[in-house]
Amino acid sequence: MIAQLNATHALADRLFFASGPNKMPVVRIRNSHASAEIHLHGAHLTDYQRQGEKPVLWMSREAYFEASKPIRGGVPICWPWFGMPKESGERPQHGFVRNRQWSVERTRDTEEGTEITFSIGSTPDSIALWPHRFKLTYQLTIGRSLKMELSFQNTGDKPAEVGAALHTYFAVSDAAEIRVTGLDHRQYLDQLDGLSTKVQVGDVTIAEEVDRIYIDTEDECVIHDPAWNRRLRVAKEGSRSTVVWNPWIEKSKRMPDFPDDGYHGMVCIETTNAAGDTRLIQPGDTHRLMQSVTPEPA
Ligand code: BG6
Repeated sequence: MIAQLNATHALADRLFFASGPNKMPVVRIRNSHASAEIHLHGAHLTDYQRQGEKPVLWMSREAYFEASKPIRGGVPICWPWFGMPKESGERPQHGFVRNRQWSVERTRDTEEGTEITFSIGSTPDSIALWPHRFKLTYQLTIGRSLKMELSFQNTGDKPAEVGAALHTYFAVSDAAEIRVTGLDHRQYLDQLDGLSTKVQVGDVTIAEEVDRIYIDTEDECVIHDPAWNRRLRVAKEGSRSTVVWNPWIEKSKRMPDFPDDGYHGMVCIETTNAAGDTRLIQPGDTHRLMQSVTPEPA
């Protein structure tokens, strides 16, 4: 499989496929701007780092690399629902595409960097979980900025309601020392308080477990990390909701694939279609969810 992928899609010294943890296939990219690693399992980005700079993404050192489980850290793609589905049963939290192997559609060099496009479509197994036909493509551009574009095409014959998240785990010097701007005065649903509606006052800081869905948020968020002399600008399109999550002490201990002290080094700022921001997509129509991340000095 790796040889076949390289024969079809490798790009000289910039992009190649390899066997990753537990022999799961990964693609590694390195160009003059940045390097990256993506697992075909979940089309899951596990590393993005500009040349000579610190990693942008946090990865759990206790992550599972197994076909039936999501990878903890990086950017899981949550789709076609965010969180727990309305009817649970066999349906997993955050949808099923983070637990499936994706295909590689295309790789190419662009003016911005190296681009790779993954895809996944409906199968009898997916229709048993979610009764819609679909084609999902995910285009990543690895350059001075990291660009992600998730496109859902409704290939079925009835409208489909979708939720989604580009569930981005950002690496930070210390979660307790950062600030997130761009959410001041916005309302959020507090997932730790029965989804009650609250209002953000000032910058978001983290001194306890945080699990919030900010609503009516289309603007850029910025993670200010003075100890690392870094700002991460997170911009988006196709999303009017933003999730901020840090599990803090007790929840970190409850997650088997998350180090007990891992909460210090990460914060999730998620570009989502969550809560009232799910989208009803008509047959033949496409919905695009886009996120870009640009590091800059503080
Ligand atoms: C966040 C949710 O998006 O994802 C949290 O708001 C959840 O409630 C977290 O705990 C991690 O989810 P999972 O399924 O990857 O453990």
